[in-house]
Amino acid sequence: MEKDKQERLRSEDWFNPGDPKSAFIHRSWLRNQGYPNDYFNRRPVIGICNTWSELTPCNGHLRDFAEFVKKGVLEAGGVPFEFPVTSMGEILMRPTAMLFRNLASMDTEECIRANPLDGVVLLTGCDKTTPSTVMGACSVDLPTIVVPGGPMLNGKYKGERIGSGTFVWTLKDKIKNEGFTAEDQIEAEICSARSAGHCMTMGTASTMACMVEALGLTLPGAAAIPAVDSRKKVIAQLSGRRIVEMVKEDLKLSKILTREAFENAIKLNAAVGGSTNFIIHLQAIAGRIGVPLHLKEFDTLGSKIPLLVNLMPSGKFLMEDFFDAGGLPVVINQMKEHLHNDALTVNGKPIGENNKKAECYNSEVIAAIDQPFIEEAGIAVLYGNLCEDGAVIKPSAATPELMSHRGKAVVFENIEDCHANIDRPDLDIDENSVIVLKGAGPVGYPGMPEVGNVDLPEKLLKKGIKDMVRISDGRMSGTAFGTVVLHVSPESSIGGVLGLVQTGDYIVLDVPNRKLHLEVEQSELEKRKAAWTPPQPAADRGYTNLYTRTVQQAHLGADFDFLVGKSSSVVKRDAH
Ligand code: FES
Repeated sequence: MEKDKQERLRSEDWFNPGDPKSAFIHRSWLRNQGYPNDYFNRRPVIGICNTWSELTPCNGHLRDFAEFVKKGVLEAGGVPFEFPVTSMGEILMRPTAMLFRNLASMDTEECIRANPLDGVVLLTGCDKTTPSTVMGACSVDLPTIVVPGGPMLNGKYKGERIGSGTFVWTLKDKIKNEGFTAEDQIEAEICSARSAGHCMTMGTASTMACMVEALGLTLPGAAAIPAVDSRKKVIAQLSGRRIVEMVKEDLKLSKILTREAFENAIKLNAAVGGSTNFIIHLQAIAGRIGVPLHLKEFDTLGSKIPLLVNLMPSGKFLMEDFFDAGGLPVVINQMKEHLHNDALTVNGKPIGENNKKAECYNSEVIAAIDQPFIEEAGIAVLYGNLCEDGAVIKPSAATPELMSHRGKAVVFENIEDCHANIDRPDLDIDENSVIVLKGAGPVGYPGMPEVGNVDLPEKLLKKGIKDMVRISDGRMSGTAFGTVVLHVSPESSIGGVLGLVQTGDYIVLDVPNRKLHLEVEQSELEKRKAAWTPPQPAADRGYTNLYTRTVQQAHLGADFDFLVGKSSSVVKRDAH
């Protein structure tokens, strides 16, 4: 690659601006940390953007990782400054971590732009911490590299692999049908979280780690390395070294995040069986960097791609197995016929060249392209009168017999209604019914929670029913599975047709023909619409008020309308 020369460092405007008073102010206060003179003498200044928090257990080890990044930055002649940004723990935050993704992205964007940084390393892990920081960094567009925190070691319970998240979705069934006791539950809790790191299924965190590697934003092979593996520290250190070179080459995010990079990410997400949350986050990232990406393209580009990775929730292995089998480089190599192999990555080389020697060490975990686990695995995008702007389903996590289904709707107005009534013995529901959940969209909940894969009714679980068609305007955890239609857009709470469905209406799901249809006459729908009143706003002040007024619908990535795009790294004014 021809290297661009970075003429003058951005940080020099703070530390060597030509005006002695300004230089004094900007350097002097930093000196209270004990930095020697040469730190301020035209050395690339690297921000280490850390999503560490004890309330985000998946990122609990990132404070240590920052030290390895710093080592690398110093070795390469740069100057590191670690700074915190809003962190989001998927499990603890209420009402849902997704409500805060855009807030965290604003925090990241403004922290990067406002400070004397020439390049940035993003330390991420739990689901929302990766997309939020990448979104924010895109809107500034400095040289940026991601160090994914890595998955936990494999969960093991009574000799069996136990996947974080995925196991939880079977708990109700185990308690009802398998005599699973409170003691069993405590043992399983411990067994499914054996080490530092994020969920070790191909849930959303692992999907996001694969996404950033597929986009070219990490050093090769970074995504799958377990959090506690010593090689993760090495990647952190090497990333610290590399970001300094990236600054010298002026290798900005926008040079890597091209249309080709996004297409590669969509295809690789299909090949690894990644989470449906991938869609919403990738679209938000594309919106920030300015690459047009339509929801339909996730289907046209990805749905014919074969599944090459046998990981829960679609398969049986876990991320540690994936790493041992060779990780994402093997998948990239196997997928070379489908990819833009010349897409540039952060190490300055094309993705194809980086991964051309990757070998598979376990074909039970990563399949060869001509012997896939499933022939066509990507995400299907549905349209119809029930979802005029689209809805999504992950066929590899669904029941094949339910992919074409007509059934009577059983409607829940919101998730609380569902929790209160789904197990009622007198509820008129059977295995052919279609469970419809309203009020789970970006505006309605608010924040679009992962509640789309609602638990099946107890009476049907007792009959041995394992799956039913479920439809909602919410999302689903990447660790979950089932015939679950998600991200229905427009959502019920802003007047979408989903909000007009009544119990007893018939719904047709036709995944092969990409259709989702409510069998109700248009005239009747118009009558219902005239009688429909929007729900009260979720909040009359504060961040939630801003969120509900400005969040876009799911088919656009649920970013705030005023955050789409970028504002460059330039800040013209200084208060000193
Ligand atoms: Fe953090 Fe799953 S809860 S990655």
